[in-house]
Amino acid sequence: SSTKLLIKGGTVVNAHKQDNADVYVEDGIIVAVEPNIKVGDDVTVVDATGKFVMPGGIDPHTHLDMEFMGTETVDDFFSGQAAALAGGTTMHIDFVIPVNGNLMEGLEVYEKKAKKSCMDYGFHMAITKWDEVVSKEMETVVKEKGINSFKFFMAYKGSFMINDELLLEGLKKCKSLGALAMVHAENGDAVYEGQKRMIELGITGPEGHALSRPPVLEGEATSRAIRLAAFVNTPLYVVHVMSINAMEEIAKARKLGQRVIGEPILSGLLLDESGLWDPDFTNAAKYVMSPPIRASGHSKALQAALSTGVLQLIGTDNCVFNSTQKALGVDDFRYIPNGVNGMEERMHLVWDSMVESGQISVTDYVRLTSTECARIFNIYPRKGAILAGSDADIIIFNPNSSFEISASSHHSRSDINVYEGRKGKGKVEVTIAGGRVVWENDELKVIPGSGKYVKMPPFSYLFHGIDKADALYLSSLRAPVKRFKSTT
Ligand code: URP
Ligand code: ZN
Ligand code: ZN
Ligand code: ZN
Repeated sequence: SSTKLLIKGGTVVNAHKQDNADVYVEDGIIVAVEPNIKVGDDVTVVDATGKFVMPGGIDPHTHLDMEFMGTETVDDFFSGQAAALAGGTTMHIDFVIPVNGNLMEGLEVYEKKAKKSCMDYGFHMAITKWDEVVSKEMETVVKEKGINSFKFFMAYKGSFMINDELLLEGLKKCKSLGALAMVHAENGDAVYEGQKRMIELGITGPEGHALSRPPVLEGEATSRAIRLAAFVNTPLYVVHVMSINAMEEIAKARKLGQRVIGEPILSGLLLDESGLWDPDFTNAAKYVMSPPIRASGHSKALQAALSTGVLQLIGTDNCVFNSTQKALGVDDFRYIPNGVNGMEERMHLVWDSMVESGQISVTDYVRLTSTECARIFNIYPRKGAILAGSDADIIIFNPNSSFEISASSHHSRSDINVYEGRKGKGKVEVTIAGGRVVWENDELKVIPGSGKYVKMPPFSYLFHGIDKADALYLSSLRAPVKRFKSTT
């Protein structure tokens, strides 16, 4: 049976414009976006008068059902996605973690985990070691498996971390495949040393986590990755930008015309490290993530960088543990599983802190939470738009209602929430995913297995001709660099 849906009377917002229009949906696809659409009585009508009709959020950075630091995230593909849908996000891109460095084995594991999906998803691939086999597998993953981005870890010494030599190999490989290289930018050797120093000083609590890996180490690694990407002449995506230090490196490179994308995440935009000094371990440990939540000042600067275009899209790095798991590090912060929530909270908190506060427009909101992600990962306008032909992933947002966040009412399986007690203006009243109403009247109607895998094609058009231009490009790097004029 076909599902027909008419969203009537709302203000349709895309990243490039907003209009008063109705949206007609059939079998999961948007068929028409125009005023006063007339339909028969076999069509379900959803009233959106006085509300915004926007593309569902796309979260570029999540970790569901991930084995990490001796434990496993509490939210799997079903529970994490259900929570996201309740918060107005209709697609996410998760990171496949290889098995002993093996990409295809890792992908099989993740394909299984994702079978219970109730919303659409895509994959990035983490690269956790480097050799000829991995290099060959990257090719298969891009050409046959619908993955167009790879994350390299400059931190997590002893497990995921790779050195500069191997990062260069990875960048070259990404370039040859038309894939996007992503980096976790912290200096892993220095972090390792910083952690030892904290323990020697007797600082074993959650505050030791932040003290051991200050912003300067994020700035250094970001700068290094940017320069190596310039040397290879390939685009770079910096995940979880948490500090002014990293952001300013991205700003500088972009001013010089380098293709660098910066992804701040919800926790970095909203939180500061004051929570880490809470004498209650459970409360302090819930903020532990990497790179760490920074001192006050960084978050506001990252918000400003989004509003001026220095940073391009907002993720969450959703990686959720419960208080029992966080307690694994009660005697030593190095064993606190790293990660915080955000998938369910992102759309509400970004609206409240950036649109409601007057920093960005409603169209900017759509761009930063949805459209830009679809563009960067090459799935626009199927995703990230309310246009005829796009997937029917839509939210109805009431700017005059309000939200409140608590672990007692959220949809994650965790007993903790880093945004506990936050309230604000605006509410996702209806979420439509793949043409079905999945969230309405504060109720979820999700079906395991209904979410589809979204293949992301490589960026051949962006890379076309670059190899021939390389010699010229490399010689241009010898020219004196124009001085960066700070705008801040
Ligand atoms: O603390 C974090 N961010 N956990 C997830 C893994 C990562 O580095 O993104
Ligand atoms: Zn599992
Ligand atoms: Zn990371
Ligand atoms: Zn992450």
